[in-house]
Amino acid sequence: MSGFENELLKAANFSPLSLQLPDAWCGHLPFAAWLIKSFKPKTFVELGTHTGNSFFAFCQAAIESQLATKCYAVDTWQGDEHAGVYGDEIFHQVSTHHQEHYSGFARLMRMTFDEATSYFSDASIDLLHIDGLHTYEAVKHDFENWLPKLAPGSIVLFHDTNVRERDFGVWKLWAELQSAYPNNLEFTHSNGLGVLQLNNAPEGKRLSWLGPDYQGRRQLADYFSALGAKQVDRLSLEQQKIQTAYFRQSAAELEQQLTTVHQTISEKDAYLKTLEDAFRAKSQYLSELEQRFHKLEAEAREAIQAKSNQLLELESTLRQQADNLEQLKREIKNPLLLIKRKIVQSLAPKS
Ligand SMILES: C[S@@+](CC[C@H](N)C(=O)[O-])C[C@H]1O[C@@H](n2cnc3c(N)ncnc32)[C@H](O)[C@@H]1O
Repeated sequence: MSGFENELLKAANFSPLSLQLPDAWCGHLPFAAWLIKSFKPKTFVELGTHTGNSFFAFCQAAIESQLATKCYAVDTWQGDEHAGVYGDEIFHQVSTHHQEHYSGFARLMRMTFDEATSYFSDASIDLLHIDGLHTYEAVKHDFENWLPKLAPGSIVLFHDTNVRERDFGVWKLWAELQSAYPNNLEFTHSNGLGVLQLNNAPEGKRLSWLGPDYQGRRQLADYFSALGAKQVDRLSLEQQKIQTAYFRQSAAELEQQLTTVHQTISEKDAYLKTLEDAFRAKSQYLSELEQRFHKLEAEAREAIQAKSNQLLELESTLRQQADNLEQLKREIKNPLLLIKRKIVQSLAPKS
């Protein structure tokens, strides 16, 4: 087996320490590791890092290949119209991982690509990855702006050569560059990655597999596509694990809430039962009171009726006695009347 083939096989063992969403670059991570190992760049600059998939793979590969490569990630870490606008938490995550693993030789440069050019001398960079805004104008501008900073024989990577929507125009620039730089190769998986080597490569730096006559380009592209798919699957699996853990946690919290709700319901049920018992007792008492009231009312009514009757009788007796008194008064004044009455009484049949 040749050294070239041996190195290709070793690329299959590359296991990225950091795999994050979005996954667009994940399919190229084994290639990034292999490129670092085989090209051994002195200075690598990345334009567009976001959550760090590509940058950290290059850094990790530099360590694993025991290289003294200096690595620079340039990004505003604010996002753009293709990546979407995001908050400071992304930069903090990237910065934490960088501090833990790569702060000895890699730097994060939080600024625009244009601002960053002034921090690099001409012809000082030998590996450049362009992955910022993907419009034709933006990528062309980035490439032309950074071209003077590239050393002879530099390798330039363009991500998203195979995206044809949302105003992506890397494919168009890539088509133009392919004729200007015949030492190139395009991977079409994971949104496409164009790899070109500047024409003026010194002897020993020229990568034969980028040459227009290289016969194995199809196999090479297929090989890295297959290796890359494993990393995409791995990220997807990790995301599913995170989601499953999240769902489990949510389910446990919901269960806990449900237990509390059940407990509250049984407490309320018990309270409701005491209220119902109290209500029943009060109702019973009320109905007894009502019965007593009706009985007393009936008795009172009867007593009133009896008294009314008595009163009527007394009134009648009183009236009778008043009449008798008047009669007597008249008879005292006129004794003839008395005699007349006595005669009438004596003649009246005896009952
Ligand atoms: C597609 S993302 C990079 C993806 C990254 N290479 C990966 O592996 O996932 C593009 C990034 O470029 C940054 N960007 C775009 N234009 C920029 C500019 N002119 N200056 C600085 N950063 C820029 C955005 O903030 C965004 O984070």
